[in-house]
Amino acid sequence: MTSVAIVTGASSGIGAATARRLAAEGFHVLAAARRTDRLTGLVKEIEAAGGTATAVACDVTSDESVAGLAAAAQAAPGPVTLLVNNAGGARGLDPVESGAIGDWQWMYDVNVLGTLRVTQALLPALEASGAGTIVIVSSTAGFTVYEGGGGYAAAKHAQTAIAGTLRLELCGRPLRVIEIDPGMVRTDEFGLVRFGGDADKAAATYAGVPEPLVAEDVADCIAWCATRPHHVNVDRLVVRPLAQAAQHKVHRVGQ
Ligand SMILES: NC(=O)c1ccc[n+]([C@@H]2O[C@H](COP(=O)([O-])OP(=O)(O)OC[C@H]3O[C@@H](n4cnc5c(N)ncnc54)[C@H](OP(=O)(O)O)[C@@H]3O)[C@@H](O)[C@H]2O)c1
Repeated sequence: MTSVAIVTGASSGIGAATARRLAAEGFHVLAAARRTDRLTGLVKEIEAAGGTATAVACDVTSDESVAGLAAAAQAAPGPVTLLVNNAGGARGLDPVESGAIGDWQWMYDVNVLGTLRVTQALLPALEASGAGTIVIVSSTAGFTVYEGGGGYAAAKHAQTAIAGTLRLELCGRPLRVIEIDPGMVRTDEFGLVRFGGDADKAAATYAGVPEPLVAEDVADCIAWCATRPHHVNVDRLVVRPLAQAAQHKVHRVGQ
């Protein structure tokens, strides 16, 4: 029977690439996000490539909406073996001194409470499968801070804390927890969301960087971890572009 994978934040970037990749690996994918027009396009693309997927409208900040995702999982054509908590992002690059409370609130709501809400709602189905996997897409900001990144790092540190705590609490049950920590990934929307739609600021993040990671690189890491035999638990996978030796050490050509 086909296994079912749920990917949140599947309407763009890493989530969309992960949905495509998991479908190619043979999963039936429930692609969840708020923008259903994008999800419908993604599902068509997956089907054209020979895979199967279902678009599910879901706002991870809403109990009701996440309950709808859990209901869609119950109705899916197979056991739910994989949840990829990917929905998230950054807002602002302001110092702690002047960071907007609203930006911090958004980052905590989507990245942290979104992961908590979706994981709680899907745990019963994942456990019932007998071999469940929970992936949490945190970030290198989940263990390193940088100037202007206080709110994002606080949220990603919290996601990292959820992953570690959950792994301890679920020990002995058929559920593994995998944390993926990407460094710099050039996706179409991450920078736009961070800088309120300012394309120049978003592009400057990657200026001169020879080859930032792309969404497919992270999808590859997620797929590799999730398709290991179930007794193999990759606790945490840190992945950065070659040009980024550390958060503060980025090789930029011509700069
Ligand atoms: N890009 C990077 O450099 C980088 C590095 C490390 C970690 N990450 C993490 O990787 C994940 C994906 O990032 P990305 O670069 O692919 O960014 P992205 O393209 O902006 O994707 C973010 C996704 O989250 C979804 N989302 C936002 N708010 C949501 C909500 N309330 N409910 C449901 N879905 C919501 C968006 O879909 P809708 O707007 O349609 O809902 C979108 O599909 C994030 O958790 C990010 O923090 C990114």
